[in-house]
Amino acid sequence: MLEINKCKDYQEMSDAVADKVEKQLLKKSEYCLSDNTWCDDSRFILPTGSTPIGLYKELVNRDLDWSDAITYNLDEYLDNTIHEQSYFHFMNENLFKHINIDEDNIWFPYDIAVWPDKEYGENVDLCLLGIGSNGHIAFNEPGSSFESKTRVVDLTEQTIQDNSRFFPSIDDVPTKAITMGLKPIMSSKKIILMANGKHKKDILHKALYGEITEDVPASILQTHTNVGVFYCD
Ligand code: F6R
Repeated sequence: MLEINKCKDYQEMSDAVADKVEKQLLKKSEYCLSDNTWCDDSRFILPTGSTPIGLYKELVNRDLDWSDAITYNLDEYLDNTIHEQSYFHFMNENLFKHINIDEDNIWFPYDIAVWPDKEYGENVDLCLLGIGSNGHIAFNEPGSSFESKTRVVDLTEQTIQDNSRFFPSIDDVPTKAITMGLKPIMSSKKIILMANGKHKKDILHKALYGEITEDVPASILQTHTNVGVFYCD
């Protein structure tokens, strides 16, 4: 089921999604207080990109307790020469170094080898997503199987073009990445999709109301039971 929320601007969108993250962080600790027996952690899937920057800023300002949180990032470039543009660097600068998360609880898809018999980032409490201008989620590009698992992928020309704004030139953009698959993303208990800007309007409409097809990877979200969409122009 999709619950669609149009926000008046980027700040309102970031605040609204920060409320959901805060609620999830508190939910687990309240549960722990009322039930002395066993305490589960709050498990999140997190995106990078320009869309969540305001959200991470808001979360840092709220000074929340992340000590029991576990995070799985959606994707990472496969190129260890690009430290400043790596998604690990992005997450560290925008979120991790400002909060009290245990660094042993921060995971990236290249850590997949740690769990040979378990899917990376499966069954998390809350998965946050952005959407690419071609309808990708994480780096599941158009044509990715709805059954896809975490794996190495080639980025499309469109994504390389979109991401070149973060690099000195388009030739510096890595062409390969490791991405969480659509299957583990869909195993999340709750998913929030964020989209910011007029240039995302058409693809968002296609993903939410169009045909459910592997040509528009985000359209798979129509089949999930608990998705919140927060968008602004
Ligand atoms: C990044 C990711 C990507 C982005 C998407 C939108 O971790 O998973 O799918 O969410 O490319 O990027 P922005 O937010 O820069 O428009």
